[in-house]
Amino acid sequence: MTDDLNGDLERAVADARSALASVSDVEGLDELETKVLGRKGLLTGMLRAISTLPPAERGPFGQAANRQKSALQDDLNRRRDELRAESLASVSDFDPTTPGRRPAAGHQHPVLAMRREVEEIFVSMGFLVLDGPEVETEHYNFEALNIPSHHPARDMQDTFWLESPPGTSFVMRTHTSPMQVRAMEQYGVPIRAVVPGRVYRNETCDATHEATFHQIEGLVVDRGISVAHLKGVMAAFLGRLFGREVKVRLRPHYFPFVEPGFELDFVCVLCHGEGCRVCKQTGYIEMLGCGMVHPSVLEAGGADPEEFTGFAFGVGLDRLAMMRHAIEDIRHFHAGDLRFFEQF
Ligand code: FA5
Repeated sequence: MTDDLNGDLERAVADARSALASVSDVEGLDELETKVLGRKGLLTGMLRAISTLPPAERGPFGQAANRQKSALQDDLNRRRDELRAESLASVSDFDPTTPGRRPAAGHQHPVLAMRREVEEIFVSMGFLVLDGPEVETEHYNFEALNIPSHHPARDMQDTFWLESPPGTSFVMRTHTSPMQVRAMEQYGVPIRAVVPGRVYRNETCDATHEATFHQIEGLVVDRGISVAHLKGVMAAFLGRLFGREVKVRLRPHYFPFVEPGFELDFVCVLCHGEGCRVCKQTGYIEMLGCGMVHPSVLEAGGADPEEFTGFAFGVGLDRLAMMRHAIEDIRHFHAGDLRFFEQF
């Protein structure tokens, strides 16, 4: 019984192979495949006939038949590939070896790239990188930073207020400084952290002011921290970022949450200090606010101002990216013109 079936199988496979040798196109090959290996194919039928064999013979026959079947299937596939390649090559204006068209790949926005670069510099100095909420409470955005509601310093940052449930008061954060207190609350002191993120102000936009822009906050609180540490860290940071010594100046400046407070300005890279539209003819561009953390802010964060001191700074990331690439107008960043972005 098995011998009969074995003979049939050998013959069917040999016939299929000789038919395969004379197949000259993919259609012919598909037809042959259906005839031999399809659902109603010759070989498939033989495999079904296994059930007519005595149980002891079924296993060996099944294994042999399946081996033959898969070898034949491999031959069919190989021939199909050959026939396809031949038919492509025969179409004269089609060259299958021509490289494909590469889809346009995006890249990081210049402000995000700057953010990553700044983060890396501070991480190398042992700072944590923290994230904070863009929808902030009035408490963290103002009150915990020594800016009570009656204080004129509220006017320094024109704010988007959000409709808030009774008893709460939410704003789009006007700076990343609220994270000073949140970070101290969450991680305690001593602490070294930077907090990058988007901030919002009800600004009249011009070449250096946007209503939505980016800052990175820095906070260092420890025993014995002084203005010398602040200057040293700022010089190390800016030197690393620009790969050379950069001309900066520190001006005394009032921020309610630092004492003393400073503003750090850069010599304008567009006009090199001569005066232009971007630096408003001053030769300098305001780059960051900084100072020694005010004792009430340390207290708001749960640190004892008798034991701890610290410094903080807030840098405009968009302004840094403008300096790096000599961009003359901050509004390019959000205008969505691909011709601008393709330059980076
Ligand atoms: C602040 O926002 C303070 N929170 C910074 C600070 C932190 C001071 C810690 C002391 C200690 P200021 O409003 O100056 O300060 O903004 C800081 C930086 O953000 C500016 O130096 C500037 O680089 C950038 N910046 C401010 N306003 C805009 C704007 N409208 N568009 C783009 N960049 C801006």
